[in-house]
Amino acid sequence: MIQAFIFDLDGVLVDTAKYHYLAWRRLAQSLGFDFTEEDNERLKGVSRMQSLDILLSIGNIQADEKTRHAYAEQKNQWYVEYISRMGRDEILPEADRFVREARESGLKTAIASASKNTPLILERLGIADLFDAVIDGRITSRAKPDPEVFLLAAQSFGSEPVACVVFEDAAAGIQAARRAGMYCVGIGSPQQLSQADIVIRTFRGLSPRQILLQLEDIRTN
Ligand code: BG6
Ligand code: MG
Repeated sequence: MIQAFIFDLDGVLVDTAKYHYLAWRRLAQSLGFDFTEEDNERLKGVSRMQSLDILLSIGNIQADEKTRHAYAEQKNQWYVEYISRMGRDEILPEADRFVREARESGLKTAIASASKNTPLILERLGIADLFDAVIDGRITSRAKPDPEVFLLAAQSFGSEPVACVVFEDAAAGIQAARRAGMYCVGIGSPQQLSQADIVIRTFRGLSPRQILLQLEDIRTN
């Protein structure tokens, strides 16, 4: 019996990848190299410091611990500037309606995100009150594919992992959900997210009940 839906934030409920990209590219350019949208794909779902390390390796730049933290801090300042201007119109199509319906049907709902900017994003989108729990990068100590963030979400409402469904757009997040022992719905392309139990393109026209029925099919077959 499924009791809870757990949502990743970036790429599932809102498209923040473009702002991460603008900020990382600005940092790369300030260090004298370019950073493409294709490079940016490698950063989806990856923590801030790991993203920085990937970026520096692309630019072939070595930096000590203190400088790395200064770079990450600078990138985050730019990123916060961009996301502070976001509005409700940047919620991905019908994502808020889907979460609301899940809640109305009696399911618990949570956010499980690597982002330390989660509270700001939820506030800008006006959707903070749709969730029973918010577990994010300020609380966790291990990044996805470690299952920590999802297990903490399940614990927060006292559910067993097997009673939880994770919604994720990144391969590392899907791996984390599987390691947590949860069901997983991938948001995006079936080729890239083949490890998920179900893959959907968008929440548009989809009801929580349809997801539950599909999972029931998987369980009984
Ligand atoms: C994830 C994003 O949700 O959060 C990553 O997919 C990002 O791209 C990570 O690096 C950390 O976010 P932040 O806002 O704490 O830098
Ligand atoms: Mg994501």
